[in-house]
Amino acid sequence: MELKVQYDCSNIDFQYITDTLKTVGMGYFDAITHKKAFENSYTVVFIFDNEKLIGFGRGISDGAYQAGIYDVAVIPEYQGKGIGKIIVDSILKTIPQCNVILYAAPGKDAFYEKLGFRRMKTGMALFLNSERMQEKGFTD
Ligand SMILES: CC(C)(COP(=O)(O)OP(=O)(O)OC[C@H]1O[C@@H](n2cnc3c(N)ncnc32)[C@H](O)[C@@H]1OP(=O)(O)O)[C@@H](O)C(=O)NCCC(=O)NCCS
Repeated sequence: MELKVQYDCSNIDFQYITDTLKTVGMGYFDAITHKKAFENSYTVVFIFDNEKLIGFGRGISDGAYQAGIYDVAVIPEYQGKGIGKIIVDSILKTIPQCNVILYAAPGKDAFYEKLGFRRMKTGMALFLNSERMQEKGFTD
């Protein structure tokens, strides 16, 4: 593998972002919506193996003391090779002064625990589609 980390949205095919999120079973939107979300984020991380985009993630932040991590995904054939860790570590490096929250997809908590994240006892969320988030196991 010849890995490259890109910290901006130049030349990103956002339809590929939509397709990848769909493929790995995560929530997804149309390409225009993902472009807006990534471009408006505090940090974006895209990982390439040579020219192939193999994983990505983004952080939103006030740049002072709070941040959140979203849309972390690695394409199936590259999972389990340390790429997810590189994505999260690369985002964290850009927000060292911040508390960071995220919601792990059900079953993926152990991945984040290995990276130092701890389960929140009083985490609360107001989801737009609360029924669907409950069905998917994100809320009680
Ligand atoms: C979850 C995901 C981002 C992890 O990325 P990855 O590249 O496969 O993970 P890594 O190889 O970097 O794993 C880092 C460590 O976490 C562990 N790990 C990874 N996925 C895990 C899981 N589902 N359960 C438990 N441990 C896991 C690895 O064993 C590794 O441990 P080690 O450092 O002791 O070797 C990736 O598998 C993925 O995109 N999955 C589908 C989408 C998804 O669920 N994203 C998360 C949304 S919250």
